Amino acid sequence: MTQTADPLPAPRGRVVRPSAAAYKEAAAIIRAGGLVAFPTETVYGLGADATNDAAVAAIFEAKDRPRFNPLIVHVRDAAAAAREVIFDARAEALAKAFWPGPLSLVLRRAAECRISLLCSAGLETIAIRVPDHPVGQALLRAAGRPIAAPSANPAGALSPTRAEHVAEALGERVDLILDGGPCPVGIESTVLDISGETPALLRPGGVTVEALAKVIGTIAAAEAGTPQASPGMMASHYAPRLPLRLNADSVRADEALLAFGPNPLAGAAVTENLSRRGDTKEAAAKLFAALRRLDRPDLTGIAAMPIREDGLGAAINDRLRRAAAPRESQTGETNSLLGRIEAVVGAKGLVAEPAEMAPYLSEPRGLYTGRARILVRPATTTEVAEVVRLCAESGTPVVPQGGNTGLVGGATPFEDGRAVLLNLGRMNKIRAVDAANNTITVEAGCILRQVQEAAAAVDRLFPLSLGAEGSCQIGGNISTNAGGIQVLRYGNMRELVLGLEVVLPDGRVWDGLRALRKDNTGYDLKQLFIGSEGTLGIITAAVLRLFPMPRERATAFAAVRDLEAAVALLGRIRAAAGDVVTSFELFPRFGIDLALAHVPGTQDPLAGRHDWYVLAELAGSGRGGALADVLESALTDAFEDGLVPDATVAASQAQADAFWRLREGMVEGQKSAGGSIKHDIAVPVSAVPAFLARAMAAVTELIPGIRPVPFGHLGDGNIHFNLSQPVGADKAAYLARWDEVNRVVHDIVAEFSGSISAEHGIGRLKVEENQHYKSALEIELMQTVKKALDPRGLMNPGKVVPR
Ligand code: TXA
Ligand code: MG
Repeated sequence: MTQTADPLPAPRGRVVRPSAAAYKEAAAIIRAGGLVAFPTETVYGLGADATNDAAVAAIFEAKDRPRFNPLIVHVRDAAAAAREVIFDARAEALAKAFWPGPLSLVLRRAAECRISLLCSAGLETIAIRVPDHPVGQALLRAAGRPIAAPSANPAGALSPTRAEHVAEALGERVDLILDGGPCPVGIESTVLDISGETPALLRPGGVTVEALAKVIGTIAAAEAGTPQASPGMMASHYAPRLPLRLNADSVRADEALLAFGPNPLAGAAVTENLSRRGDTKEAAAKLFAALRRLDRPDLTGIAAMPIREDGLGAAINDRLRRAAAPRESQTGETNSLLGRIEAVVGAKGLVAEPAEMAPYLSEPRGLYTGRARILVRPATTTEVAEVVRLCAESGTPVVPQGGNTGLVGGATPFEDGRAVLLNLGRMNKIRAVDAANNTITVEAGCILRQVQEAAAAVDRLFPLSLGAEGSCQIGGNISTNAGGIQVLRYGNMRELVLGLEVVLPDGRVWDGLRALRKDNTGYDLKQLFIGSEGTLGIITAAVLRLFPMPRERATAFAAVRDLEAAVALLGRIRAAAGDVVTSFELFPRFGIDLALAHVPGTQDPLAGRHDWYVLAELAGSGRGGALADVLESALTDAFEDGLVPDATVAASQAQADAFWRLREGMVEGQKSAGGSIKHDIAVPVSAVPAFLARAMAAVTELIPGIRPVPFGHLGDGNIHFNLSQPVGADKAAYLARWDEVNRVVHDIVAEFSGSISAEHGIGRLKVEENQHYKSALEIELMQTVKKALDPRGLMNPGKVVPR
């Protein structure tokens, strides 16, 4: 076999001095879709053909620049600008006064505009300017087209004012670097938005505001977060690696000094004086090169002396403030992560203040208190996607969080503080309700009760119901496949979801928001995300099933002879009533006593004392008391057969509510009975009596005097097998035996082929326990799925499956 040798391609990242040949080569690279770095009077730009989508995309790639941050387009003169943007009288006047020169004008696209939409990053405007540098001008003429060019540095880092800055930072990411020497102005162009009525200053720069005002009058400063604000105005930006402190009036021996004026502070390890004369123009020209020289790894920080605000001082101080803005890491790669996230979500979407973050870092049971780099609260799917993408780029773990009501630590970040905590609470819109299709489309941050109410407003039922429904969020309900008190009739969350929208671990968005009851088109992907506790992606929205609103309810509270009688009673009621039994809850006597003692206003509905009780509820679409009659007669039969020694059917909704308060009161009451070791198990309904007999005997043998409070969803075979400490025992010593007790109980669960986590999930609490009880094959399959969707292990790492 023979190989034909292609001529060697020219090496990337070459630095060349300007010449006719260099311009020719550079222009050919631009026309072919490549990247050329070139000097302007402000800073070096990273240029590409502004009319070529792929070329513009390559700029974002090379700079690692967030896609939402638009690019400035460079043209040779005002006439060339007027082809691409709507050039009004104000623009004419500004162009006449300042072009060529360091002013970028934000204007609306012209009808025949050729500029790639990517340059605008979704805005309707384009920032455009005519650079005043012989090399930049020559390149524009040779290329014969508009050139998009941001500063030629990695996003967030110091801007480049010399060819070697570009070579160092971007190297082979650019095809060619035109070396035109140091940039004379040294600070980026002023960005002025004149697309609206009032001109707004988006970025101070090489043309002063005073000079602009002389031409067009008053100029407003754009506030961050307003529609006019520049998407690229990030809090942390233009940043050296070392921390920078402003307005220094003293300097330490281990610091570098950025001096200004005739009297530099004494004692710094190294000093760069921006201008001995106190001239801001000279200072701007030196700024970025000086910061680079001071950014030495052997020092602890850079101290900057105060700099006058007038003239170019405003722009210099703007850059220094951003360079000094908080960053969470001093390493190059993640240097600007916080600033970039903030630029995505805005100030409202970000919490870094420790006191404000604290409630999000611990969970309701007080088992874990984590740490996070930052708490992000995005408002839209696009924002979630962008934040996740930024985290993926920098290898930062993401912990998604809803209402933070989970009971297994799934939404709490680990103590190492590496993760970004992403709370979905602001994504709380009901997107659509389709009564005819019996569906509702909601965002992940909707509170469960809000969804129930939105369904009720169109006379439909959203049946998921559980203790935390006033604060838990639907995204969390889906991620944990929540159960609750009506699973018997309507199923778990898994059965209530028809479609999902999910942000994948790399930041792409899967739109699976289908509202279909039949869809046999291959793997049911949504089921992978349901119950995966945020380890495979972040659920941002869902289509949920709705049901007819029940017209009638019947609720009974019954003592049962024993557990077998409880199971038999369920069978009888279902046989009599059909598929309308919504709840069948178990109570032990001790649980009732706890509720009565600790929850004000509770009453025992029955006279005598019995070991076990059930709460049965039926709901249906009929009217006229038919359900109550069915329930009454099933209970009478059971009474006659000796299964039910005593029972009462609620005569009013208030009475039914009182039964339910006892149910919730048991949970409350346990808190006052000292330490409680908890289990959330399921076995087949028919096996509940045998399971409870075995498990209660086993824990009593292990810890004599232990007080079991097994309660919960008997109808689903799901028992909260909670164990209160013996009277007078030491709480801490008792709780220290948590794992030991779990093992005894879970071994018995396993004998019944049951589940060690029926409705709370695995989170962090049960990762090891799950490994212990699942088969090697099942664990392997789970890990295969995790790796396939989240190969870098950045989505809620350490939860559900081990890292
Ligand atoms: O001096 C300069 O302007 C240099 C040289 C190379 O021209 N370029 C430069 O580009 O500094 P860059 O991308 O580093 O900063 C441009 C700023 C960003 O903050 C960006 O968000 C903003 O201008 N910008 C670009 N297009 C915009 C638009 N349509 N609306 C609002 N802001 C825009
Ligand atoms: Mg820049």
